[in-house]
Amino acid sequence: MKTRRLGNSDLNLTVIGLGTWAQGGAGWKFGWGPQDDEQSIAAIHQALDSGINWIDTAAVYGLGHAEEVLGKALKGMSEKPIIATKCARNWDEDGNIVKVQTRDSIRQEVENSLKRLNIEIIDLYQVHWPEPEEQIEEGWETMTELVKEGKVRYIGVSNYSVEQLERISPIQKPASLQPPYSMIKPDFEKDLLPYCDKHNIGVVCYSPMYKGLLTGKITRERLEGLAHSDHRRNDPNFNEPKLSQNLELVENLKPIAADLGITLAQLSIAWTLRWPAVTSAIVGARNANQLQETVAAGSVELSQDVIATIQNLVN
Ligand SMILES: NC(=O)c1ccc[n+]([C@@H]2O[C@H](COP(=O)([O-])OP(=O)(O)OC[C@H]3O[C@@H](n4cnc5c(N)ncnc54)[C@H](OP(=O)(O)O)[C@@H]3O)[C@@H](O)[C@H]2O)c1
Repeated sequence: MKTRRLGNSDLNLTVIGLGTWAQGGAGWKFGWGPQDDEQSIAAIHQALDSGINWIDTAAVYGLGHAEEVLGKALKGMSEKPIIATKCARNWDEDGNIVKVQTRDSIRQEVENSLKRLNIEIIDLYQVHWPEPEEQIEEGWETMTELVKEGKVRYIGVSNYSVEQLERISPIQKPASLQPPYSMIKPDFEKDLLPYCDKHNIGVVCYSPMYKGLLTGKITRERLEGLAHSDHRRNDPNFNEPKLSQNLELVENLKPIAADLGITLAQLSIAWTLRWPAVTSAIVGARNANQLQETVAAGSVELSQDVIATIQNLVN
């Protein structure tokens, strides 16, 4: 699979990375309903067999569970993939999520993640959200210390605005930004894309299929049957009035994908990769079959005509 270099780091990421949010399963506020760990492990192995060389996770996904499953899947492998994880979303004894990026908290988090992942060093450590706002500098200074101490190789951020990137860059330029980016959430193109391009900050975009909506396999009937512990039930894009607009977009995209002989999931992912400044798209998968379909998006090149047709539908 094609690779692109992540900003000014020496990490060459495949244009598709595997995301493991849904693999965190149920049992916490932002879960995806029940998830079979064996299926998650099969998806991880399928990703590596298909040539994907990096995996994105986070401490908070399943309150440590997604990291543990990943650690289990990679156990005993002599050559592990590039591992990216995140901090600054912690939780208390009752499982309530705590937004924190103090020095003490991040230092504790990195030790916990290393242990769960069963690795010596994290390749890319990312601040999950720019919250609490007043701790941004303390959190980022701590991240730079972790690099010097050899706990992590590169540091990045997620969900940061241009203004927040400018706040942390004098301390150290981040290797990467992880923003949401899809046909349903295209805002990243406005300010962040040109900023990251100009400053050579790598971009690993998330939810390229908008949590499955842009696969064409989500219908109203399927949504009614979603587990109560699936957070998508509460996502405004899976509810009216946005749901109707999103399903209409999907219907309009279907013939474009069909003409190209690809699936809607592949079209959606390839669309995010059309910018050279986007290093990689993080694609979630709950089982090996899903991954088998989406990984093929890494070799799809969209023509200017197709991109223009899609732009008319998106804007
Ligand atoms: N930094 C952040 O704040 C942040 C936020 C969100 C995501 N992320 C990262 O980005 C990754 C990807 O985002 P995402 O998981 O939210 O969304 P996504 O990649 O757009 O969608 C993934 C979901 O779509 C469905 N799916 C995947 N392949 C499919 C296929 N071939 N056919 C039908 N359905 C398919 C699966 O859910 P179902 O089978 O249940 O429908 C899967 O969990 C995450 O795992 C995470 O690593 C980061």
